[in-house]
Amino acid sequence: MMDWTDRHCRMFHRLLNSSIDLYTEMVTTGALLYGDRQRFLKYDPLEHPVILQLGGAEPEDLAKCAKMAEEAGYDEVNLNCGCPSPRVQKGAFGACLMSEPVKVAKCIEAMQDACNIPVTVKCRIGIDDSDEYEFLERFVCENKAAGCKTFIVHARKAWLDGLSPKDNREVPPLNYERVYRLKQEHPELEIHINGGIRSIEDVYTHLPYVDGIMIGREAYQNPWFLKEIEKEFCLDSYQGISKSDIVRKMMVYAEREINENHVKLHDITRHMLGLFQGQKGAKSWRRYLSEVSQKAENNTSYILKFLNQLSE
Ligand SMILES: Cc1cc2nc3c(=O)[nH]c(=O)nc-3n(C[C@H](O)[C@H](O)[C@H](O)COP(=O)(O)O)c2cc1C
Repeated sequence: MMDWTDRHCRMFHRLLNSSIDLYTEMVTTGALLYGDRQRFLKYDPLEHPVILQLGGAEPEDLAKCAKMAEEAGYDEVNLNCGCPSPRVQKGAFGACLMSEPVKVAKCIEAMQDACNIPVTVKCRIGIDDSDEYEFLERFVCENKAAGCKTFIVHARKAWLDGLSPKDNREVPPLNYERVYRLKQEHPELEIHINGGIRSIEDVYTHLPYVDGIMIGREAYQNPWFLKEIEKEFCLDSYQGISKSDIVRKMMVYAEREINENHVKLHDITRHMLGLFQGQKGAKSWRRYLSEVSQKAENNTSYILKFLNQLSE
């Protein structure tokens, strides 16, 4: 998620759940080909399995970037066909690609030819007035023919004109049945469902119908949910650990990042605001982290001191 799931956030989420796949923010082909490539590709080995999500629409560029992803050690590369932001539309990629399945299939082919890691697609169930099942199915089948086996489907359509990106994650209604039907009619495909999944009960509701669940906002805003998921669904790898110990581990990581990479403490702690959500002290934790950033304080002991005041 743009501006959210940077490498510091992913490290935090990995400490909370050792089994899930982690996705980068969408990285455009332009950023990788002409920008600070090292910055965009950087991740910690602990993040594995980690997936690089690309934004782009030119087969050649995407192929080069898929190769970079493989060379950098990413486990998978994913093509964004779901982002409706005006900036992305201007670049003619993201969600608007859903109306060009043949073009996307060419991109997928080129990416697959260029690398040996899985190439997957994230899309919506439709865009604008093209929101019938057949539209989604045609998009998926064209890419299936190109060799794509895994689709992560955000179960709401996107309005390309008139809705902000935020509204496009809330206003169009969720249609989970559409995604279930896709899996039912194409059992050979791996179909992951996304959108509005916020509880263990929600996960149980979807699991019988799909191969995987993608969680966005709830994982970020209530990160402990990832630990609950680990406990419920990944018992083999479940590690009982307190929230305070997660913070302590993150501060060890922060020390290293501050010293070796000149990262600001706030760039790490900003992802941790929701850790104590729903419990006593949550508000003061958030306030405390904000104060640390206002003081431009790069001292992790300041954060650790606060833990003593929180009773878990
Ligand atoms: C701040 C923010 C940034 C996002 N950036 C991306 C992105 O870069 N790539 C992507 O595929 N989806 C992105 N999304 C969409 C989410 O991945 C997800 O599809 C959407 O929020 C619905 O799932 P949820 O209800 O679990 O959050 C973003 C969402 C948010 C809130």
